[in-house]
Amino acid sequence: MATLANIPMNIIELHNLTYSWPKQRQLSINIKHFSLQQGQKLFIKGRSGSGKSTLLNLLTGIIPANPGSSIKVLGQQLSELSSASRDKFRADHIGYIFQQFNLIPYLSVIENVLLPCRFSSRRADSIKTDSRLQARKLLTNLKLSEKDIYTPVTSLSIGQQQRVAAARALIGSPELIIADESSSALDHDNRNAFIELLMQECHNSGATLIFVSHDPSLESLFDRSVQLQEINLQGIIR
Ligand SMILES: Nc1ncnc2c1ncn2[C@@H]1O[C@H](COP(=O)(O)OP(=O)(O)OP(=O)(O)O)[C@@H](O)[C@H]1O
Ligand SMILES: [Mg+2]
Repeated sequence: MATLANIPMNIIELHNLTYSWPKQRQLSINIKHFSLQQGQKLFIKGRSGSGKSTLLNLLTGIIPANPGSSIKVLGQQLSELSSASRDKFRADHIGYIFQQFNLIPYLSVIENVLLPCRFSSRRADSIKTDSRLQARKLLTNLKLSEKDIYTPVTSLSIGQQQRVAAARALIGSPELIIADESSSALDHDNRNAFIELLMQECHNSGATLIFVSHDPSLESLFDRSVQLQEINLQGIIR
């Protein structure tokens, strides 16, 4: 018999989600309903400019949706939070690997990885061992060498920077990991190792994964796949 404990929870629930960039009548995002269960691994594909990064920015509360939209993440209605509370909510619960990585250039690799622990005591407290040790473990799992760990991020290759961004997203085991095109700069072998490790880390912590990519060869690794144009109706504001 199903009990409350084993009914899968929706980690994301969208209803009538719309978004238009300032001064535009065109809806960049127009999704009637969408939900994602806890622990699922979702692959999002779609042509360039179809709104993938915009959708991720909405899900993480970086940009606020149009009035009347409903975005629930972990049961929290994002529109009920102030901008500062949305930032805190994101730091506590979401690991985001940005399309442009957003690493801090004047910090070393390890300091970049530790940033979420500075912004979120929840993330810091969830690490049972020392947080530096955990950061180093994630980095070595992602095949960065010991000597890279204390260098400035700017001296790393783009592929190495992607893996630093992944370690930063994973530290402190947030419930939701979001990766935007995050394997695009890696060669074939490193890309597969990267995705396997990302999946393994999500599996270990029970995290839900949303992965945006143009690479169809990765699709079969995921539980679920969505072509954004199929759920995003776009259109004009009436
Ligand atoms: N900062 C912005 N200001 C105004 N319009 C924007 C902005 N960013 C994106 N857009 C608009 O939103 C649309 C969707 O952009 P988005 O970056 O979400 O696409 P994408 O699917 O992530 O593309 P790609 O695969 O190239 O990364 C674009 O066509 C663009 O018109
Ligand atoms: Mg994008």
